This record gives sequence, C-alpha cells and structure tokens, in this order.
Amino acid sequence: MDFDLKTNEKGNLSIGGADALELADKYKTPLYVIDETRIRENYRRLHEAFSQHYDNFKMYYACKANTNLAVMRILEEEGSGIDAVSPGEVYTSLLAGFDPSRILFTGNNVKNEELEYVVASGVTVNVDSISQLKRLSKLPGTNGMKISIRVNPNVGAGHHEHCITGGPLSKFGIMEEEAVEVYKLAQELGFKPVGIHSHIGSGILDPEPFKLAVESLMDIAGAVHQDAGVEFDFIDFGGGIGIPYTPEEKKLDINLFAEKIVGLFKEKLGEYKLRNPTMCIEPGRYIIGDTSVLLTRVNTIKQSYRKFAGVDAGFNTLLRPTMYGSYHHVVVADKPNAEPTQKLDIAGDVCESGDLFARDRPMPDVEEGDLFAILNAGAYGFTMSSQYNSRPKPAELLVKNGKTEVVRERETFADLLTKQNVPVRLLK
Ligand code: LLP
Repeated sequence: MDFDLKTNEKGNLSIGGADALELADKYKTPLYVIDETRIRENYRRLHEAFSQHYDNFKMYYACKANTNLAVMRILEEEGSGIDAVSPGEVYTSLLAGFDPSRILFTGNNVKNEELEYVVASGVTVNVDSISQLKRLSKLPGTNGMKISIRVNPNVGAGHHEHCITGGPLSKFGIMEEEAVEVYKLAQELGFKPVGIHSHIGSGILDPEPFKLAVESLMDIAGAVHQDAGVEFDFIDFGGGIGIPYTPEEKKLDINLFAEKIVGLFKEKLGEYKLRNPTMCIEPGRYIIGDTSVLLTRVNTIKQSYRKFAGVDAGFNTLLRPTMYGSYHHVVVADKPNAEPTQKLDIAGDVCESGDLFARDRPMPDVEEGDLFAILNAGAYGFTMSSQYNSRPKPAELLVKNGKTEVVRERETFADLLTKQNVPVRLLK
C-alpha cells in the first residue's frame, strides 16, 4: 500500500497526530479532517522536485480541489499561486490573501460579466476560446493587457473519461492547428500574449501522457514564438498528477518525473530559442488529496441480498465513488490495519441506489457504531459536496501536530433554507 496509515499507541488511526475516534466523538460525523503538515510536505516535495532542475518554476494550486480558506492560507504562506476557474474562486483566493499577480484565471464558457469581474480583479486571464478573446477585447481597460491562451495539445489522459481535458472530445482550449492564428489575432486585438497553457486531464499516474503533452505544447509554443513573434513569460502545463487510491497503485516517482519533464522542457526551449520563461504547473490533487480523511460512522449492518454496512455520509458528502466509480480506501478507525474477514458493500444514507462508497470491499469484522475513515478524501471531496436529500454539509477540521481547529462549521437545518423566499400568498 503506497499511502500513509498512522496509528497511535491505542492502535487507533491518527490524523496529523490526533486520534480519529476522539475527533469523531467530539465533533460528530460525517467529518472531514485535514492534516496541515501533509499539505506543506506535499507542496515542498513537488516544488523542490521541479525547481532543482529549473529555478524559474512556479506552482499554481488548483483550488477547485479544496477551497477551504485555511487550506488556501497555508498554500499562500508556502508561496503558491492559484489556478482559479471561476469568479468565485478568484474572490476566495483574493480573500485568502493571494496577490492578483499570483492568480491565473482559466475559465471555460465564461460570460461577459464574469470577464468584467476577473479583469477588474487584476488577475491574469487564460483565454479558452476565440469567442472569449473577442469579447474580452471589447471590455474597457483590456488594451495592452497581458494574457495567456489555453491550447488543447491533442493529448488527453485521466482516471475517468469525465476527467480527460485534452484531445478531440474535449471542450477546453483552442485547437493546436489554430494556435498561431489565435495568437496573431490576440495581438491584432491589442493584447500582449505572454503565456501558453494546457491541462490534459486529472488523476494521471503514468508519466507518458505528460511527456507527450509537454512536447506538444512546446512545439506549439515554438511555432507561436517563431511565426507570431510572441515572447513567453510563462508556459503552464496544468495539473493532473495522480495519487494512489487503491492499495495496488504506486506513487509516481516525483523526482524522476520532474527530471524527465523539465529535461524535455529545456530541450525544447533550446530548439525554439525560447528565453527562460517561467515553467508552471497547476497541481490540485497532488497537494491536497492525501491530506484528508472523511470520518463516517456505521449505523446499520444489514444482511439483505447482499451484506451492507450503512454509514452516515453519502454522495452528498463525497461524490467521487458515485460520479466516477472512484475507489477510496476505507479503514476501521480503531483497527486500521486489521486483516479482512469478509466482503461488504459500504452504502451511504442518500436515497439513491448509486449511493455506495464500495461494493464487495474486503473488510475486517464491522459492528454498528464503528468508525470508518475514508482515505484520500482531500481533493474534490468537500468542494463537490452538496445538500442533496436536505442534509447539512459536514464540518472540516484542520489538525496540526495533534492540535485541532474547526475550519468549517457543520451546517445546520437552517442553512438548508437560506436564500429561499416563500411568496407572501403562500405563507401559512
Ligand atoms: N488546472 C486546470 C485547468 C484544471 O482544470 C484542473 C482540474 C487542474 C489544474 C488540477 O488537476 P489535478 O492536479 O487536481 O488533477 N473532480 C475530479 C477532478 C476534476 C479535475 C478538474 N480540473 C475528481 O474528483 O477526480
């Protein structure tokens, strides 16, 4: 198993030095628990791996993975930039203390009022389409503005087809073959294009597609440089680095990976005589994925046609298993290393048959009242949660060296009803 499972002297699962059972008793379940030290370690490991080979290197945390303000503050302190995909993410990042110069806005199907907002915020805009480019040019204050353009390098990969963002089926970016023309158009419209960007997909543990994408994007950047005379301040390869979710998956050897990727990048810089642009990546999952667990309590053991362990979280709390069929490892928090004795379906509390965390999962003996820890729940966990079935969203805790802080309070029933208005004629 290539992910960390720490236990304390009682044999209980320990998260950032805190006892999972004590946390669940005190703060109730379902509960997201985030380990601060792990966030910092992930950031530094990845940054070091790349920057040791090319010092003009920057990371833009893809905050869609987890926008908790405490998480954002930690990454701001670490020196990260932000990949923001919506005005709401720009707003959150600014509030978290990121200078606009550290934020890259990569929206898709962006409407004019959103463009107005991001331009007024002073963040760098990464343009996704010709339509967006033209509409952006009509806004006041955009003449001479520095922009970047997202290109689909015709390479895609991802842990699920929904998470492949490059290649012929993808809605993102402009086409490879139109890149030179689009950069020329950007210049004609009065922009100063200084960046090029691609993001091929998410949850990728195989280095090969990344290498292909780097080659492809660099060839495109080279052509744009030579034929449109663009001098690049930065070249951004997006995010997508996967983490192991199943016990069989292996971590990507990040040092070897970075060495290969930077090697290719530098080769192409030389080939096209590109002058020392900043190399950027936009990791989300790699930074935050393995920092968090979702604690949920078993309330029902049911032997029906199959054996179910029913828990107090559902796809409203963690959508990934239902949405993508994603595997999340589940352990019993007071015996995380116990050997399996049976196979169970782990079912949530949402009224839909698809609300399952696992089918036929090998598990040790389990009783009602046991606490489950769903591992690697930090990325796209809380951010994809909902109030479906009128369930308040869970709390989020931040743990640092055993000390716990509530960084998002559990919602109440009243939170389910905010923003609603009942017309006077319908009042009772
Ligand atoms: N940059 C851009 C432009 C992106 O669209 C994304 C993710 C990233 C960076 C970060 O990708 P990462 O390093 O986290 O793989 N909800 C899905 C993942 C969707 C990712 C969308 N874009 C999941 O739960 O697996």
